[in-house]
Amino acid sequence: MTENKKVPAHVSIIMDGNGRWARERGRERVFGHFEGVESVRVCTEAAVEAGVKYLSLYAFSEENWGRPESEVSALMELMMKSMKNELKTFLDNDIRFVVLGNRARLGDEMNAAIDNMMELTASNKVLTLILFLSYSGKWDILQAAKRLAKETGGDPEKLAQVGQEEFGRLLVTKDYPDPDLIIRTSGELRLSNYLLWQGAYSEYYFTPVTWPDFRREQFFEALEDYASRDRRFGKVK
Ligand code: FPP
Repeated sequence: MTENKKVPAHVSIIMDGNGRWARERGRERVFGHFEGVESVRVCTEAAVEAGVKYLSLYAFSEENWGRPESEVSALMELMMKSMKNELKTFLDNDIRFVVLGNRARLGDEMNAAIDNMMELTASNKVLTLILFLSYSGKWDILQAAKRLAKETGGDPEKLAQVGQEEFGRLLVTKDYPDPDLIIRTSGELRLSNYLLWQGAYSEYYFTPVTWPDFRREQFFEALEDYASRDRRFGKVK
């Protein structure tokens, strides 16, 4: 089977607008996060259906730790519960589950649950679902730079050997391809510190639809838009 270049291998989503979606309905912000979990399920199914191989989601940024304690703990609890609830679905549907980010800031209980899910799904092949948790692009680049400094000891000869590919291997995303398509919901036109290195040549898709309303139809619309793009990676055709 030939690879269909029109289907992005890696789709990444900045899930935004849960709070506003809830507020517009006179509900607490966390209600929007609950509804957002359903969008995660639907988009995961749609990704499998479309033949996408990697679906990554910006679930919690390093900056999100600065939200009110009640919202942070509600979000963490929701994510832990949702992960556990989805384990059977991941196993039944051959989905590999991965969490990337500053894991040191997640509690022991959360880290144990993540390790368990990652181990149990490690050999699954149909789709890799990556959750970016406690992640930011600047954090990732900085931790890579620190590791490089440590590993080379600042030796100019060793540093001269380090190109973009070698540096990319120090990022937490080293085992996964860069995203072909990055979607952001809710009408905000910014990256919010997401995949700053890895998104250098991604195609971007911004939609006014808030995350709880972003479902199968909206996911396929984004893929259709991607299929119409002409990717040149800075070169000429
Ligand atoms: C952005 O909306 C959304 C988040 C910060 C959290 C996203 C998390 C989920 C949907 C739960 C994910 C669960 C799993 C299992 C992956 P916002 O709160 O920034 O909305 P606003 O911009 O309207 O304030």
